[in-house]
Amino acid sequence: MKRPAAASPLATNRSVKIIADPEDDPALRRSADGLARRLNLLATEPAEPSPGMQLAVTPLRLELRINAEHRTRPVCVDFSKLDTSSPAGRSSRQPLAKAVGGRKLVRDTHVVDATAGWGEDAWLLASLGCRVTMIERSPVVAALLADGLERAKQFNSDVAQRISLVVGDACAVLPGIKPQPGVVYLDPMFPVRRSSALERMPMRVLRAVVGDDADAPGLFDAACRAAQRRVVVKRPLRAEPLAPGPVATHKGKGVRYDVYPITARP
Ligand SMILES: C[S@@+](CC[C@H](N)C(=O)[O-])C[C@H]1O[C@@H](n2cnc3c(N)ncnc32)[C@H](O)[C@@H]1O
Repeated sequence: MKRPAAASPLATNRSVKIIADPEDDPALRRSADGLARRLNLLATEPAEPSPGMQLAVTPLRLELRINAEHRTRPVCVDFSKLDTSSPAGRSSRQPLAKAVGGRKLVRDTHVVDATAGWGEDAWLLASLGCRVTMIERSPVVAALLADGLERAKQFNSDVAQRISLVVGDACAVLPGIKPQPGVVYLDPMFPVRRSSALERMPMRVLRAVVGDDADAPGLFDAACRAAQRRVVVKRPLRAEPLAPGPVATHKGKGVRYDVYPITARP
């Protein structure tokens, strides 16, 4: 699904319809109607033709269905699929952990993940012991995140309770977070690849919902004002830095984490 890069996430939401599945389940219909009201969307009447994207309230989870008529696999937030229990998964030597502060800083550090997306990095940081505030400005993505976080409480409440979610634009939310977080983490959408087939499915779906984060430089400035110790930015391995002057870079598979320390404020 293509849309102009500058369209706001709220405008895009109008093309997402909310359904209950099965549609004759009264409790699911009520949840779908409530969600539609909260997100300011219209719940789909059963007889309506299938729209481009559907947010489906099912007995197990909330899921986003793309081109429902083409039967593309639905997308949901499922933290149980992330590897945080193997030695590699929970290692404080992995590049994201090193970028956030390494073994000494990670535990109990308050990290604001200002570009939450599907919450994978936030979950990883919380698994390492950080307290994480996720900020997500797309109400559709945020609804999927909230649903995933709620289900996560059933299989890993320790990690889930270290994460909170704020729905809104991080540029507006960050100045109000008190006390100031130690670290602000940014992972704006990467520049579009020449072959979009190389992008992971969940990221392709995310791009279809939220577009490109063309305003990321402004978000970087807001992050630098909000963080006490450092701002960390995830970038594709060979991309230009989001801002000049990272003092350290931790490389991972296909991505790198640029570290910008906060020097004394006037
Ligand atoms: C590449 S995704 C992040 C993926 C995430 N790190 C993960 O592990 O799943 C970028 C997300 O940041 C969100 N975003 C971008 N700019 C934002 C802002 N200023 N405020 C809040 N959310 C923002 C987008 O809506 C999108 O969902």
